[in-house]
Amino acid sequence: MLEEKFLEGKVALVTGAGSGFGREMAIAFASKSANLVLNDINLESIEETRDIILKSNKVEILLEQADISDEEQVNIMSKNIFQKFDNLFILVNNAGIRGGSSSLKTKTNDYNRVMDVNVKGPWNVSKAFYRKMSKQKFDPIAGKIINITSCAGTECGLNPFIGMYSVSKAALIAFTKLWALELGPSNITVNAICPGIFLTPIYNNDPDFIREWIKLRNIKLPINQIGEARQVADVALFLASPASDYITGQNIIIDGGMTISINKL
Ligand SMILES: NC(=O)c1ccc[n+]([C@@H]2O[C@H](COP(=O)([O-])OP(=O)(O)OC[C@H]3O[C@@H](n4cnc5c(N)ncnc54)[C@H](O)[C@@H]3O)[C@@H](O)[C@H]2O)c1
Repeated sequence: MLEEKFLEGKVALVTGAGSGFGREMAIAFASKSANLVLNDINLESIEETRDIILKSNKVEILLEQADISDEEQVNIMSKNIFQKFDNLFILVNNAGIRGGSSSLKTKTNDYNRVMDVNVKGPWNVSKAFYRKMSKQKFDPIAGKIINITSCAGTECGLNPFIGMYSVSKAALIAFTKLWALELGPSNITVNAICPGIFLTPIYNNDPDFIREWIKLRNIKLPINQIGEARQVADVALFLASPASDYITGQNIIIDGGMTISINKL
């Protein structure tokens, strides 16, 4: 289905590329010859991602340490990127943080941090890049935005144990659809990948912790396996590829059937 080097000559920015999904997606894009901008708040983590990628790929990589919730840092990142590269074809809004307890018990500082990183962050980054993306001469699609949402932000998955996180991801799903409407006329597609429960550092990379959480919440997984970051990267590759050029505004759920089964199995 996918040509070997379909991202050759194209640049992909992944936020939160120092860990989990972000790292796997960066590796996947490099395997299709994309040049990369690896962003994270933590510099060492993206140095590690870069070193892993350069072991088996000949691509150009720019490291951009920045906090995506800070508009000024994002704008500096944007300047740096266009000093080095002449395009940004793929933008993945991946960086995100876990967030607290029941929404009404959340402290204002926690509310602000979760919303700042998970909602304002993707908004800052998309705002900083969409104009340049829309002027790119790639045909038929000028650029692609991929947001990493969560089942916790869907109607079936709203979760009072992580209330603010749920709200933040519901907002990002709404942004995905809005931006698809706003940027469609510029031939930019905007889609989201909506993971269920995956083994990454956000859950301490600990399958026992995840299993305990699944039991506590009485969650049923029709495919009774915890997801792996590579599976999210596979969907990201599809969305980055020409095979998805006519798909926009979609929140693609990848959850082993969790959300269709809640309260049913
Ligand atoms: N792991 C899961 O089960 C799961 C499920 C659904 C959705 N998600 C979402 O997937 C995305 C990636 O999560 P992950 O599981 O790979 O987590 P992770 O913690 O492994 O990776 C997140 C990365 O984002 C970086 N980051 C955090 N705040 C940042 C900021 N302000 N600016 C720049 N970088 C920042 C972190 O340093 C980290 O490297 C997140 O948006 C998360 O909400 C994860």
